[in-house]
Amino acid sequence: MLKEMLGIAEGILQDLHDDHEVVASLIEGIADSEDQWEQNSLFQEMRAKLLTHSHAEDEVLYRRLKASRHETSRKFAQEGEREHQLVEQQLQRMSAVDDKMSDAWTAQLTELQKLVDHHVDEEESTGFRCARDEFDKDELETMGTEFQRRKDELMVGAV
Ligand SMILES: [Fe+2]
Ligand SMILES: [Fe+2]
Repeated sequence: MLKEMLGIAEGILQDLHDDHEVVASLIEGIADSEDQWEQNSLFQEMRAKLLTHSHAEDEVLYRRLKASRHETSRKFAQEGEREHQLVEQQLQRMSAVDDKMSDAWTAQLTELQKLVDHHVDEEESTGFRCARDEFDKDELETMGTEFQRRKDELMVGAV
């Protein structure tokens, strides 16, 4: 309770928040970079981290929320999964563009940033609230371990 009051998240919620920060700063790094090689390598890193994050999150957190008896949790998980798909489609569009210094690609990056920011805001407010209502501290810790393991497995498969 104290942790929650201090704004520190438990278990998987802390892991998710940490990933969100990493992805946000990678996106900013891409936007700020003026070197094509660096920009491309940051993009590949961000893409891999974002995809492994959202796939593992679907499996470990959203799957459980979708099976909840509370409608708010089920609705959140359904909407969140749809947003994950939109983010994934946007990443595919961006991967298909070779010239990552072009104005068109920069516009795509801004679009991605908007999608991700909106999704993360919803997840860390509504989603975290649902997760705290559904699971106790031990369950959140266990889910955190499962989430990290699943991400490692997915990263090896290079999503
Ligand atoms: Fe997330
Ligand atoms: Fe998410």
